[in-house]
Amino acid sequence: MRISLSKAQHLLETGHLVALPTETVYGLGALLKYPQAIDAIFTLKGRPNNNPLIIHLAAVETMAPWVEELPEQIGQLAETFWPGPMTLVLKVKPEFVPERARAGLPTAAFRIPSQPQTLELLAKCGPLVMPSANLSGRPSATSAQHVEEDFGFSFPIVDGGACQKGLESTILMHDGQKWVIIRLGALQPEVFVPVLGYLPPIQHAQKGAIPLCPGQHYRHYSPKAKLTLSSQFSADSKGIVLGFSDAAYPPGCHVKILGSLKQPEIVAENLYSVLRQLDEQKIHYALVDMRFPREGLWLTIAERLTRASVFQEVRQLP
Ligand code: TXA
Ligand code: MG
Repeated sequence: MRISLSKAQHLLETGHLVALPTETVYGLGALLKYPQAIDAIFTLKGRPNNNPLIIHLAAVETMAPWVEELPEQIGQLAETFWPGPMTLVLKVKPEFVPERARAGLPTAAFRIPSQPQTLELLAKCGPLVMPSANLSGRPSATSAQHVEEDFGFSFPIVDGGACQKGLESTILMHDGQKWVIIRLGALQPEVFVPVLGYLPPIQHAQKGAIPLCPGQHYRHYSPKAKLTLSSQFSADSKGIVLGFSDAAYPPGCHVKILGSLKQPEIVAENLYSVLRQLDEQKIHYALVDMRFPREGLWLTIAERLTRASVFQEVRQLP
């Protein structure tokens, strides 16, 4: 159900959940101050309890008193990239941030989104926890229709149209020496160089190790269709190919276009929508054309496609 901002404010303030647009993906919002609403997020999404949530704010001043340690260059990062698709994981004073939101970790994740309706709501209602508005494991929602697919037509949604970025925020944390990227996202690693003076390393989840970003532990971004990553296509490549408008495919291949190899931003914007269309069209199997560069935004696109294609068993962290 599409609702107005004032209705969204009323629902949130009475302890309900509302789906909200952001510039990255739609979020499933609950007020940080309502523990039962936070619980409802985990239940509704089917989200593992040990996967913490991002706290969304309207202004840095709100979180400043909650933070235990302010790592170097945090001011420059916040000034340059907020409001926007950057999330920072920071050590917090536990009494200020509900344990449930941070899944018991000594840290919490913070972001100031730039989508105007949601920013306005945050300024009116106060901080919201907001995971992506999809059932756990499914591709994130980048339109109100995607939210309805996962949560039904009666679920309250503020419709902000299609999300501009189409990929989740880039998450950084400071390891004591430098900032590291713990989840690739809508901001490519290179954009941090002018601010930090170095390229923040990408911290990949290691097998068997506790990942810095708990969400990276789980199956994610997956349509029901089985995806196979490929760099070779022949006339008898069976099924659908997820590919590019300016790449060559043998005759007979059925290509579903993700965008152009020259415009990774458009590919990013379309990605989850195309993955969701596979399910809508009852396609059970697709090859994914991985013949694209491994730099900039393509790194995030490659990571999402790889994770969408791999079944990772959901298991509890030790
Ligand atoms: O763009 C986005 O970030 C979207 C929009 C709605 O803002 N939100 C989003 O939330 O992607 P979610 O819940 O789908 O992903 C949040 C990720 C998870 O992988 C979680 O493990 C990680 O952030 N995270 C949250 N708190 C953390 C913490 N204290 N330490 C490490 N990772 C954390
Ligand atoms: Mg998510």
